[in-house]
Amino acid sequence: MMTIRFDYNAALADVVGPKHGVTVKALEALRPRARTIHEELLARRKNASLGFFDLPYDTALVKEIERYAASLRKFENFVVLGIGGSALGPVCLHTALAHNYHNLAPAKARGGWPRLFVLDNSDPEILMRLLEIMDLKRTLFNVISKSGYTSETMAQFIVIVEMLKKKLGARSLGKHLVATTDARKGLLRPFADANGMTSFVVPDNVGGRFSVFTAVGLLPAAVAGLPIGRILAGAREMDKRCKTPNLMKNPAYLNAAIHYLADTRKGKHISVMMPYSNALKDVADWYRQLWAESLGKALDTRGRTVHAGQTPVKALGATDQHSQVQLYVEGPNDKIFTLVQVEEYRASCPIPKRFKAIPELGYLEGHDMASLLNAELLATEFALYKAHRPSVRIILDAITPENVGGLLYMLEVQTAFAGGLYNINAFDQPGVEEGKKATAALMGRGLPEDLHEAAEVRGFLKKKTHKAL
Ligand code: PA5
Repeated sequence: MMTIRFDYNAALADVVGPKHGVTVKALEALRPRARTIHEELLARRKNASLGFFDLPYDTALVKEIERYAASLRKFENFVVLGIGGSALGPVCLHTALAHNYHNLAPAKARGGWPRLFVLDNSDPEILMRLLEIMDLKRTLFNVISKSGYTSETMAQFIVIVEMLKKKLGARSLGKHLVATTDARKGLLRPFADANGMTSFVVPDNVGGRFSVFTAVGLLPAAVAGLPIGRILAGAREMDKRCKTPNLMKNPAYLNAAIHYLADTRKGKHISVMMPYSNALKDVADWYRQLWAESLGKALDTRGRTVHAGQTPVKALGATDQHSQVQLYVEGPNDKIFTLVQVEEYRASCPIPKRFKAIPELGYLEGHDMASLLNAELLATEFALYKAHRPSVRIILDAITPENVGGLLYMLEVQTAFAGGLYNINAFDQPGVEEGKKATAALMGRGLPEDLHEAAEVRGFLKKKTHKAL
């Protein structure tokens, strides 16, 4: 069962003061708008132009993936080639739900499941050094790219294809490569089909950063032995909670509204997510992309220049209390915080009572490390409150597949709804596409549009007249 609570008290004006907190009155005033956005999202869910809403209901996909994953125990390594939305979902699920040291554990302790590696950069070291130490014969590569033309992913893919052909023969491609890509469009699909590769689909109506509940996230999760059916069950439970148009009762809508008001009325242009759990640190990483790419837009839906978006920052409690919290408490009051709390951790670590050697540390003895971490969360929330910095708290009773599924689903709905509040298109990414085009142009692709792009880049370089020091 999914058990997630959302505590927004410390974001309210009554608690942190009227200058920095959001008033219930302002939230209430958004209710009519919330209803309109709700209706619009519902209509797009019904006409299937927004596919992410219904992904948790695809139980046939769960069975298909589980069947395929069960055949992969013979592999020692499962290597994802993907970037952005094609990498952050798999990483996030794996960090949250696999054993904290999954890759280090011996095969037996991993239940025979392969180790997982996600190579989400064109840094040559991460690919070549992994290849140096792994047994190619016992490695399966999952190339994930909806479009099939993302240069980082596809460059890695070409390297792997040629290496497999050279070392294991052309017929090894079908055995050592699995593709996750668009059903029809994109450059990868024809290659996958022609080379007998198993392939999974990224639905056309699901954008990369909303794809964690497709095979993009679920296949690597299943191959690490994670119960993907339970992840989706949690997402379905959250869907039920997020179906109400009542802003004050819908955790996703309410959190979106609080962030929107904090940004646009209270100058909180930065949104920090700080889970107090190492396992949830990549939830913050995944969410960072979701919030940034969805809401960071130059134009609103009417084509007016708005430059909308709140800058998301990821932090880890308690680690970053010793790195970032000084700034958070005393630096510019331009942030709103999301603290993610875990009530019961999956391991208990009592601090022995018998250690009497340093009397000053006696206050720690007899407690569990978990209560220390929870005290630290409360201490940070309190320090922020004292400094008039608004925060919300998302509370998971434990890190379970259901809760992680529910949390990610809530954040997706929150982002989609926030797009409505900002009145921007939360589902495109023209800024990312621009970077992709410029890279291809610089690498000499030579399409007519690239010539223009390359000339622009050359123009930019000409402006750099000062020698680098
Ligand atoms: O969210 C997005 O749309 C992007 O981050 C993409 O996922 C990313 O650019 C990778 O694209 P693709 O899956 O087409 O390789």
